[in-house]
Formats: sequence, C-alpha cells, structure tokens
Amino acid sequence: MSAEEPVASQESRTQVRQMLLIGAVASAFGIAFALWIEWFPAQASTQAPTIDTLWDVLLIASVPIFVLVETIVLYSAIKFRMKPGEELKDGPPIHGNTKLEIIWTAIPAIILVGLCTYAYVALVDIEKAEANTMNVRVVGEQFTWTFFYPGEGGEEIGSKQLYLPAETPVRFTVQSKDVIHDFWVPAFRMKIDAVPGIDTHVRVTTTTRTGEFPVVCAELCGLGHSAMRQSAHVMSRDEFEDKLAELSEEPAGGGGGDEGGAPETDGKTLFTDAAEPATCGSCHTLSDAGTTGTTGPNLDETLPNLSEEQIRQSIADPEAEITEGFSPGIMPNYGESLSEEQIDALVEYLMEVKGR
Ligand code: CUA
Repeated sequence: MSAEEPVASQESRTQVRQMLLIGAVASAFGIAFALWIEWFPAQASTQAPTIDTLWDVLLIASVPIFVLVETIVLYSAIKFRMKPGEELKDGPPIHGNTKLEIIWTAIPAIILVGLCTYAYVALVDIEKAEANTMNVRVVGEQFTWTFFYPGEGGEEIGSKQLYLPAETPVRFTVQSKDVIHDFWVPAFRMKIDAVPGIDTHVRVTTTTRTGEFPVVCAELCGLGHSAMRQSAHVMSRDEFEDKLAELSEEPAGGGGGDEGGAPETDGKTLFTDAAEPATCGSCHTLSDAGTTGTTGPNLDETLPNLSEEQIRQSIADPEAEITEGFSPGIMPNYGESLSEEQIDALVEYLMEVKGR
C-alpha cells in the first residue's frame, strides 16, 4: 500500500492538470463564442451600452464556471468509468477537506459580491435623473399600449404609437388597466412591469439614433399577449413637435364634422392602422383589410353570418355574446374607447365587406 501511494497521487495530479487544461481551453472558446453572438438589437438609448457591458461581464464570469463543471463531469465519466472486473472496487473513503471547503466557499463568495457591487453601480448609473426630462404616461391593457403626453392646459395628448425626440431624457410612468403587463423597448434595454393599482417608473435617454423600434409586452398577460406590439419612433426635435401638434388636433377633429377628421372616421383605416384607437387587424383576419390576426375569430368566416346589430354589439359590447371556441375577456370593449362616429364607421365598413 505504502509503495503504491506516491504513484497513485502523482497520477491523480496529472489527471487534475489535464482537466484544468481542457477546462481552460474550452472556457476560452466558450467566452469567445458567447461574446461573438449578437444578443441584442441596435442600441438606441444612453443606458444600452452600460447594460450590454454588464451582460458581457456576466458572460465572462459565468461561462468558465459552466464549462469547468461540464469538463470535470465528462472527463470523470470517460476516464473513471467502471471497467469489467472492477464491480467490487471502491475509491478511498474521504472525510472532509478543510482546505478545499474554504476554497470552494470563498471563491464563489468573492465572485458574487464583486458582481453584485458592479451591477448595483450600473443600476444607479442607468436610473439617475437628468435635467429637462420629458414625462410620458404609458397605459397597458389587454392587449394594447396607449401613450400620453402632457399637453396644454393640463390636458393629455394620447397616442397609440410612442413618439420620442432624439437625445432626450424621458421618464415613463407606467400603469395598467387590468392585469400585469411589462413595458419593454428592447432597443432601449429598459423594461418595467405595468401593475394594476400602482405607478411604476422607468427612465430612458434617447440617443442620436432615430428610427422605429418595437415596443413589446414582456409579461404573459392573456391570449393576445403576443399581439401587444407597437412601435417607438425616435425622431428629431422638430419632427416630434410637429407630431405632437398633429396628435393634439386629432380628438378635436373627431368630434366635429367630416372635414379634417377623415382618417378617424374611415372604417378600414380604423380596422387596420395600429396608430388608431382600435387595431382590429392585429387580432382578426379579414382579407379585404389584408390582416391575418388569429387571436380573435376569423372575420372572413364569421362576418357573413352576422347582422348589422350583431356586428355593432361585437365592437361596443363584446362580452354580450362570445363566438364559440373563443374566451370572454379578450376583446377590448370599444364602446368605451371609440366615439359613436368611429363605431358607426367600423360597422359601415364591415357591412360593406360583408355585402361583397
Ligand atoms: Cu400585455 Cu403581455
């Protein structure tokens, strides 16, 4: 026994060295691969680079741990597997190893404290308040977002699309009308839950990058969750001012006659355009409108069997009668959010399509 011992420990030392070498090489490849992957869309906020760097640091810290564990598992399974004739053989009994235990407690503790400190510093940095911040109220509901800008005389300007000026700090106040949603613009990297009954806040500072970025809901909120997608349009300050002026005129035009309010009273536009208060097409298929939504009934199939009264009821009081195979509580009650005129326009359009 005493003669074998040095040989055995020398062999095991070689095995440990082999494992560490394989682990180190595999970790290097793993880190290179992880950093090569394009995880996120283009950066469109000043917070985005901070988040992306944090992500890279977390990858560099966690990939070697995963790779080393996998290396030891695979190496042991191959190298130390039971060979024929070794059925009764067992390894030496081990009762604790203080040195090893201290090492495997201390190293993860140091890594965790380091990463938490770094993440906290990054969080304070991305959440800091800036001068001349613009306020936007975001309201989530099944299954749409509405954005409100402070207007003149305390009146808010509502919009179905998010418009933001470039290079501007924005503070979003996020609310929900029904269940928990999550306001997320991946290009901004910032995201916050919309919780019924409370206001949550998130800050984003836009950069010089203008364009259209998806606004999505990141909390499973019901059958139409995947349809809860709109757009954030980042534009120059001038374009934004024009847009806001245009939006503030819209509600006034809707109440009056036909002049100026044409897009709002056109049933087909109401049906298809995501900028309008109703976006029927994101949930309903209707070939005349070119929409392919599948959350709600296919109107190509159901429309021919509906009377004008039933169509009107489906829009203004959708809970009154639910199409077989669909659940209640999914279709928003447009009797509350659309004007009488808009509902008339939608019904008129659908009756027209039905008649074809
Ligand atoms: Cu709202 Cu998912």
